[in-house]
This record gives sequence, C-alpha cells and structure tokens, in this order.
Amino acid sequence: MLRETATQATVGEGRSLENEKSPPLHEDATYDRARTPGPLRRWKTALHSFRVLRDLSPEQVRNFMNSYVIYNLDWADEKAMTDTLGPDYQKKVGECLSDYYSVLNHMCSIGELEKMYIPPVMDLQSSIIVNQERYEESIAKELHLPPKPRLLDLGCGRGRVAAHMTSLVGARVTGVNIDHDQIASARAYNDQMNFQNDFICMDFNDLPLPLPGGEFDGVYNIQAFSLCKDIPGMCRELYRLLKPGARLSFLDWVKLDAFDDYHPHHQDLMRRIKPLIGAVGTPTPESMAADIASAGFKVLSNGNASIDGLQAPLIERADWYFKVTRHLLYGLVRAGLLPAHFRTLLDRFAKDGAAFIEADRARLITTSYHWLAEKPREVHAVSGLPASTLDPDSVVVEAGSSSNSGKSTPSSGASSVLDIESPSPANSDSTGISVPPLSPEEPLKTEQPSSRAGAEMSS
Ligand SMILES: C[S@@+](CC[C@H](N)C(=O)[O-])C[C@H]1O[C@@H](n2cnc3c(N)ncnc32)[C@H](O)[C@@H]1O
Repeated sequence: MLRETATQATVGEGRSLENEKSPPLHEDATYDRARTPGPLRRWKTALHSFRVLRDLSPEQVRNFMNSYVIYNLDWADEKAMTDTLGPDYQKKVGECLSDYYSVLNHMCSIGELEKMYIPPVMDLQSSIIVNQERYEESIAKELHLPPKPRLLDLGCGRGRVAAHMTSLVGARVTGVNIDHDQIASARAYNDQMNFQNDFICMDFNDLPLPLPGGEFDGVYNIQAFSLCKDIPGMCRELYRLLKPGARLSFLDWVKLDAFDDYHPHHQDLMRRIKPLIGAVGTPTPESMAADIASAGFKVLSNGNASIDGLQAPLIERADWYFKVTRHLLYGLVRAGLLPAHFRTLLDRFAKDGAAFIEADRARLITTSYHWLAEKPREVHAVSGLPASTLDPDSVVVEAGSSSNSGKSTPSSGASSVLDIESPSPANSDSTGISVPPLSPEEPLKTEQPSSRAGAEMSS
C-alpha cells in the first residue's frame, strides 16, 4: 500500500529532506529487508568480493587494466575511437566495459559502494549508503507510479537499486546490464528476496532493447549514460517503452558551464577524472535535456541534485576509505598473504580521487546532475507527434542542439519547471530548452560479456 510521502525538497538549494527518517513508501515489512544492508550482510558481501578479487586470473587482471583505454576516448570523437579500437569500436567498448565492471563491482563492494555510484548529497550527516537510499526514495516519488508499477533500470549494477524500488513501491523492475558477473549477483539477490524482478544481460547500445513497447510505468538511469553511445536514440527507445504519461528519471555526470575545454588544467582534470568515474561520453546538462526533449518527452526539471550543488563531502569519504583500505591491503601483499595483483588493481582504481574532488568543488563537473521528464499523455492525432511539442509555448529544442557531442548548447535563458516532490536542482539552470509553466490547477507531475554473448533474460 502506498502512503503519502513525508519528504519535501527545497527548490534551488539541492534536495533538503524535511523528514530525514522518511518512512518506506511500501508498508509491507517483509520488503524492508531490501533496504539498508545490516553489518553482517555488508561483511559477507565484502568477504565474498575479497575472495573473488584474490582468485582473479592473470588474464582477468590484464583485461581490467587494458579496459582503461576507453576512458581516454569519447563517443563524440568517432575518429579517435575508430583509430584506436577499429571500425567495430562499439563492440570493443562493450568488451572493455565488461572487463572493467566484472572486477570493479567487487572492488566497490569491499567499501560502501556495492551500488556503484556516489549519490547526490542529500544529508550531510549521513553515510554514502544512506544518501543513496534517500536518492532512490526520491526517484520512487518523482516517478508518480501506479500500484505495482513496471520499472526499467538501465545499467542496473547488482540489482540492489531495483530491489530497493520493489521494497519502496512494490515495483517489478527490469534491469539491464552488460556485465554477466553483476547480473548473476542481481539474480541471486532477487531469488533470495523472493522478488519478481527480471535481469537482462546485454549491451544497452544494441538498440532496440528486446522489450515490448508501452509497458513501463517509469524508467531510471543512475550514472550509466556516459556509457551510452547514442543518447538521443536511447531516449527515443525509452519513449517507445514507456506508457503515455510515464516518467523518466536520470542521474548522471556532466561537464558544467565553468569547465573550459581549452584550459590546460581543466583538460588535465578531465583526463584524470574520466577513468576514475568510468565515463566515456561527456554530456552537458543542456545536451542531455535537449536529447530527452527531442525524443518527445516534456522535461519537467533538471539541475544539480546535491545540497549546494556539491558532492565533494561524499567523494572525500569514499576517497579516504579506499586510501586506508589500499594501505592495509599493501601490508598484506608485502607479508605475502595476498597476491601482488591486489596492488596493481588498487593503484589503478583509487588513483586521482583528488582530481575528482577538486573539479567538483570548483563546480567544473558533477556526477549528481538530475533530469526528470514525462512522456505526454496525448499524441497529436494528425502528426503523431506528442501534443506538447506542437504547442508553441511548449518544449522547444534549438536546431542542432540534440546531440551527444558534449558541446554545450547556447542558453536561451528559459528555465525548467521544478517539481517540488522531485530532486530539486541546486543549480536549476537554463538549458536551451523552454518548458511551459504548469498552470496552478494542473497537478505538478512532479554475463561473460553479453556484447559477445547476446541478450539473456531471466527472472
Ligand atoms: C557507474 S555504474 C552505475 C551504478 C549502477 N546503476 C548501480 O546500481 O550500481 C554503471 C552501470 O552500468 C552498467 N553498464 C555500463 N555500460 C553498459 C552498457 N553498455 N550496457 C548495459 N549496462 C552497462 C555497468 O555494468 C554498471 O552496472
């Protein structure tokens, strides 16, 4: 049973949660087990990942290290992609992503990052895990879901966010992930929880997704779209998959206005940050909003979802944790208790946290940018276009602004409509897209790698 949310966000100042102990949206206590993992489960998870890392073959370690080649590239520079990876570069990127994530997910699970994302800062006093939970609760609210909704999770990690969505709103979630290892973990957890979620092992760059159209009540992406080659094409695909009136919620990394492509220090920061956060593409707030709108969605809000627009407090926490862990593990390697590859992996993984923190504090980049959009309920009978795109006061995408090029579109000065129940942008900004204000009466709406193996589905 759904109950009214106790959470309220403040427009313009990031999401300040009024009631930090906001209750689960779903009242069935059995679902609560999918919420914050207790210390025992965290220790078991960490120990399991530790064993997997210890037993990696030399080839797996080599593949992991070699996979970093993709983070020196960008989807926007097809020539560099082709020169480096060959004409079938999409498949090569997919293989690198599988090699990378099949190891990375275990390194992250040793720490607080079993869900592999630094969340928006929503509560400065709380841990990364609690902030993740707060963020996921806000997704469940802002999607305005019906009872027993069908949800799509793109880049679904180990399915822990999906499980949380089931616990919150009784959702049946379909998760998509390129990495077999994470999919196996997601399915095992799903079975353990007795949930009915489905997990598909495939490269989401192989569009269309093997899913029927018009079946989903909502879709979310948490920090996976820099791995998406064709964001406009993905948005069109999501438009196909969603029911009319259904919403999408994205959280992702972007390059902000203050970032100067020609500034040598900014270039150096970018070169160091992309491998650390595992980003291939470099979207901007404007390019992403334009791509969403160009697919026919109405963009309801967009902005930085962290309090004061800064994630640094949580990035510093994660950086500190991995520095301490690294030194402890070095000791065990020196004592001959762990294989030397631990050192190789950790050196690569924990490198350049300082660059991430610096760039976040300078507001050059963020990984907590958020977009909320809705598929119009009505489609114009004659043109087949969403009615909203035919309204002169409605979504306007500037010519040529729909892109995945990472280039900012010029700002029109028009700001987005903020959803008071949704993540409230700290820096809700102009996007080059004008979205119509809502009238006061109108409710604010507010496996090995599948790129090699093909899609596989299970529930
Ligand atoms: C940075 S993590 C984001 C956190 C993730 N949403 C979670 O819940 O842990 C990116 C996720 O997207 C997945 N992924 C990366 N590239 C992908 C692709 N091309 N197709 C499908 N999944 C992909 C990764 O395996 C990983 O689980």
